[in-house]
Amino acid sequence: AAGARDIAAADLVVTHVEQRKSPPPASALVFGHTFADHMLAIEWTSAEGWQAPQIKPYGPLVLDPSSVIFHYAPSLFEGMKAYKDVEGKVRLFRPDMNMKRMNTSAERIALPTFSGKELIKLIAKLVELDAAWIPSEPGHSLYIRPALIGTQAALGVHPTTDALLFVISSPVGPYYKTGFKPVALEADPARVRAWPGGTGNFKLGSNYAPGIRPQMEAAKRGYQQNLWLFGDEHWLTEVGTMNLFVVLKKGEGIEIVTPPLDGMILPGVTRDSILALARDHAAGSIALEGVPQQVTVSERGINMGEIQQAEKDGSLCEIFGAGTAAVVSPVDRIGYMGKDIHIPVGEGGVGAVAKAMLQRIQDIQLGRVEHPWSVLV
Ligand code: COI
Repeated sequence: AAGARDIAAADLVVTHVEQRKSPPPASALVFGHTFADHMLAIEWTSAEGWQAPQIKPYGPLVLDPSSVIFHYAPSLFEGMKAYKDVEGKVRLFRPDMNMKRMNTSAERIALPTFSGKELIKLIAKLVELDAAWIPSEPGHSLYIRPALIGTQAALGVHPTTDALLFVISSPVGPYYKTGFKPVALEADPARVRAWPGGTGNFKLGSNYAPGIRPQMEAAKRGYQQNLWLFGDEHWLTEVGTMNLFVVLKKGEGIEIVTPPLDGMILPGVTRDSILALARDHAAGSIALEGVPQQVTVSERGINMGEIQQAEKDGSLCEIFGAGTAAVVSPVDRIGYMGKDIHIPVGEGGVGAVAKAMLQRIQDIQLGRVEHPWSVLV
């Protein structure tokens, strides 16, 4: 049927760059500022569906100024990473989760959906071709940025007849300028990122631009990021660059709490992985070093009142963020209502749970521990 042609990896056309650039030393990398030699591009039209995928030299796009992307923001993206393992082989981490979410986002803003399996094959080809760009220093990787935009040259607000899916990649170290050190968040109840029935659970470009001004204002006061709250009870939601975990003392053990997938937060791949590892640990099927055996894993609402109370009675153990770019980032301070809540971070600036999660996730990503989440390219 017209428009029904799916992405087919077998139709790939590759144009190699003539003169390859060389990656800078890992120590000189700023997150997302350097790009590998090649990109993947796949055009779509409503009449014909997905066209033959192309891998070509990284370079500018040429778009009509009337393209819908510039006016109404039909734009979504993903964040994933490629790693070089102990044997020098290339691995992806749970790419099926990114494909699923990308299609969910596309559906929400009337952009075309596609076969995630075929796109993973193409991303694997791209990463293979640019494998020299994967840094092997600890905590470094090749950040992969798939994006999908509406490109129809027309000013009416309606579903686009043309779209472009592209994938670029960037060698990266830590996301935050502070490196692997703890981050400080500002929780300002006057600012809202998402709301019930909104789009906070989709990875849309339009969810991010409105957060930049509040982030600048928080930075002026010495905080790297905003902790987005919701409602009169000041429920914690997410950070915008990462999901959030709170560790509380509970009886002889601990409770690991993260806000539920209620439509207002991004369903993070790292969030899901941490929950699964925590549940495996609680069930005794894995042992996370330094984490008490008695763990309650809770996807539940948690508000600032509970955080303040826990700080007061000494049951607040740690808070950390989790995301593909941020990996696992400890939080040492939350500015709230004109005061700072201080969060223990333990030795070396990382709490026990954050440290164990980071270690286990990196072990899986780097193939040091065999796990179905890690996919060889
Ligand atoms: C990621 O963690 O991959 C993200 O997309 C977050 C951010 C860089 C916007």
